[in-house]
Amino acid sequence: MNNLNSNIIAVDGPSASGKGTLSRNLAAALGFAHMDTGALYRAVGYEVLQAGANPENESDAIAGVQSLKSKLTQSNVLSNPDLRLDETGVAASKVAVIQSVRDALTNLQRDFAKAPPAGAKGAILDGRDIGTVICPDAPLKLFVTANEEVRAKRRTKELQSKGLDATYKAVLEDMRARDARDTARKAAPLRPAGDAVVIDSSDLDEAEMLELALGYAKKALAVS
Ligand code: CDP
Repeated sequence: MNNLNSNIIAVDGPSASGKGTLSRNLAAALGFAHMDTGALYRAVGYEVLQAGANPENESDAIAGVQSLKSKLTQSNVLSNPDLRLDETGVAASKVAVIQSVRDALTNLQRDFAKAPPAGAKGAILDGRDIGTVICPDAPLKLFVTANEEVRAKRRTKELQSKGLDATYKAVLEDMRARDARDTARKAAPLRPAGDAVVIDSSDLDEAEMLELALGYAKKALAVS
């Protein structure tokens, strides 16, 4: 295929680090298309839970991938608010450990990066392994992090603002377990790519993060 997009920004980091917000803001500022790859894993976890199956079991998880893929074209399955629930995040991090699940989602992500929707000037993908596995040639890789307390506070506030019954303690516990699973797994563990720029968002607000990242984007990519 000709004219493959190479204006790609890979954004990785642990849960509630601010990578999703930063990615959406960057996409809007640059006219890029954005893919929240965590939503794919969340949607697989959700399908498995809905089926009453076990997210740690490979054949159950693969059945979840198939079920998701059959729905992807016809509906806004990735914008289901239940995907944001903490329990869906936990199920997502369980299916995400399984290599065959990751493999089944790889092309969806790479195709988006190489051929973003018409009109987009580039693609930005956020997740855990975008810079290391999905788009290792991306000209700009950001690794967004923040201290655990800040991240747990942010996630608690986000869930509560949606009317969900979240406590700081429970969110912190789930987040620790999820981060440990994401970092320790054999398949595409969470880590910064060797050439990633690390952004610690603990003391930065949304606008400051965007400004910083836009500076990197203007140096690394064909954007104005
Ligand atoms: O929103 P938050 O940062 O808490 O999580 P997310 O990005 O929605 O991802 C949910 C889970 O999916 C993560 O804990 C990972 O286990 C998994 N995931 C992954 O393994 N690889 C990705 N590229 C994206 C998410």
